[in-house]
Amino acid sequence: MHQRIAESPVLPISWPGDDAVLRPWRAADVARFWALTESNRARLSVWLGWPDSTHGEADVAAFIAATRTALDSGEGCDLALETAGQPVGGVGLCEIDQTNNTATMGYWIDREWEGKGLVAGACRAILRHAFDDLAMARVELWSMAGNARSRALAQRLGFHEEGILRARVIHRGQRHDRVVYGLPREAWRRER
Ligand SMILES: CC(C)(COP(=O)(O)OP(=O)(O)OC[C@H]1O[C@@H](n2cnc3c(N)ncnc32)[C@H](O)[C@@H]1OP(=O)(O)O)[C@@H](O)C(=O)NCCC(=O)NCCS
Repeated sequence: MHQRIAESPVLPISWPGDDAVLRPWRAADVARFWALTESNRARLSVWLGWPDSTHGEADVAAFIAATRTALDSGEGCDLALETAGQPVGGVGLCEIDQTNNTATMGYWIDREWEGKGLVAGACRAILRHAFDDLAMARVELWSMAGNARSRALAQRLGFHEEGILRARVIHRGQRHDRVVYGLPREAWRRER
């Protein structure tokens, strides 16, 4: 079994090139997270499910509490991407499978900070954390087929497209294909 995330001494995670960190969400982030949800709702909800089910600060507080529980149990690693003194997005590992040592990576960023390479830097850092600190054997990324920006990022990070699960996701009342990207640890080490 991989090392439990709560026992990892490496949070927060920083990386060269960006003045940013990945760190656990905190109760004190509720107002900021809610403001980010409101100002990015239209663009995020095209691809992500959580904005539509986030109706107020109570939902955000529950989400943050759940991320902390998941960090403690090793079932998830949803982190705040912080720069300039405040969270500007989220990068994380979810669907952590402690039997097979696999996880799924996810990401989003505030419109103001999009297109600066910040998410790419944060993803490389969390991949290093996943493979080197948590001994993951493989990380996946799931994207809706139409999410060209996310798919381009996955490929830049070294993920390979492994298949399309047809009609796999219901989003906003419609079924969509899910594209599965995979990155085994050996491939990540080879391509670094
Ligand atoms: C998907 C998403 C997270 C990508 O964020 P991003 O900021 O574009 O990603 P990156 O950090 O890799 O930045 C890439 C851009 O920064 C530019 N850039 C600038 N400096 C850079 C640097 N030093 N390194 C890398 N890229 C850099 C790149 O040229 C690229 O711009 P382009 O897309 O116009 O070509 C963002 O678009 C988003 O939040 N989308 C909505 C939520 C979503 O779809 N999540 C994924 C669900 S599967």
